[in-house]
Amino acid sequence: MNKLAIQGGDKTITLDQSEALEWPIIDDEVTEAVVSQLQSGEISFSDTIYKFEEEFAAYHGVKYALAHNNGTASIHGALFGIGVGPGDEVIAPAATFWGTYMPVLSCQAIPVFCDIDPFTGCADPVDIERRISPHTKAIIVVHLGGMPAEMDAIMEIAKRHNIFVVEDCSHAHGATYKGKKVGTIGDVGCFSMQGGKLLPSGEGGVMITDNLKYYERAICLGHYERIRDLPEEKYRKYAKTCFGYKYRIAPISAAIARVQLRHLDERNKCRDDNVMYLMDGIAECPGIYPVKPSENNFRGYYSRPYVRYVPEELGGLSKEKFIEALRAEGANVGSGAPGGSDHLSAVFQEQNHPAFSRPENNREVTYQEGDLPVSENPREDLFTIPVFSRPNKALLDQYIEAFRKVATRVAELV
Ligand SMILES: Cc1ncc(COP(=O)(O)O)c(C=O)c1O
Repeated sequence: MNKLAIQGGDKTITLDQSEALEWPIIDDEVTEAVVSQLQSGEISFSDTIYKFEEEFAAYHGVKYALAHNNGTASIHGALFGIGVGPGDEVIAPAATFWGTYMPVLSCQAIPVFCDIDPFTGCADPVDIERRISPHTKAIIVVHLGGMPAEMDAIMEIAKRHNIFVVEDCSHAHGATYKGKKVGTIGDVGCFSMQGGKLLPSGEGGVMITDNLKYYERAICLGHYERIRDLPEEKYRKYAKTCFGYKYRIAPISAAIARVQLRHLDERNKCRDDNVMYLMDGIAECPGIYPVKPSENNFRGYYSRPYVRYVPEELGGLSKEKFIEALRAEGANVGSGAPGGSDHLSAVFQEQNHPAFSRPENNREVTYQEGDLPVSENPREDLFTIPVFSRPNKALLDQYIEAFRKVATRVAELV
């Protein structure tokens, strides 16, 4: 039998992986949409933005979609929309991108970090409840890497404590929780459309809600040009200045987003089919336990999925050695697990953002090592497998073969 590649044998994975891994997909349809937008001369204001919003709202079955120039802005709009302000606390995980929680400070309110589930990286409902205080106004839930968070438990807690839920769906366009699209379960849903996301528009963001007030308030924050058209007259006086932010999406980004939205479900399905086929194939190896979404959920794959590695079932071979051997076979596998210690970053240690000096926020808030034991200590027994964006069964079979080859010959590596 062929030797392991790490010991000088032939590689198992010989097929080119670059096309299967390509993301974002910029095809002729995208190019034509961009060129046509440019040729229209409408590169700042355009109906294309409204068309995208209508299509995005219809896709989610909600009343309102408000496009923004990035996902961070859409979260700022959502928080301002629900009325987050000085004196409020907003709970969010620290294992995320800062665009999730920094808008809390932009609203002059205080982020309170919560811990996560060690396998999914999503907020742990039990820990969320532990962090609730009389000042808590909202929870921002992140569907991390595309994995739907535990929305039933989170919504139940929010209802009991009378607090808002904002869903950060920046990694999870098209994902569903118990049949419901993420972003439609909480009070407001927000999505980044930055170039690497499942719905990539270059730069862009979008906020969705069924609540007119949240939508109108988000417009008042950063969309001055729309204020005069709002149904409720009481907002019109802000048309001159809005609240000082300019959050309009570029029409070229909206044009790209319209094309990408048309392909979202089919591309999500292709990624999911590939992941499931690979997971089922490698799960036959001893010591390899892919972390799947629960059966009622459909996850998006913005991030690579995790696999749990049990060395005791593989002759005691370390995870690192196993990964090294797989890489030598040509497999694109990585180390890593959900986690993050953003609460220890400079802004929170120094507390020098103006929000911390507001008299309404004048109470002791600390951000310390040890606050988030799970987030701060990612599991060491996980590793990642790739997500392929195009169908390629032959390549997936080579991956499964590589796993089998290494798993059956661990004795040679121990
Ligand atoms: C979870 C999460 N939330 C929010 C954002 C902010 O989005 P943007 O970069 O479009 O501002 C990102 C961006 O990467 C993200 O990953």
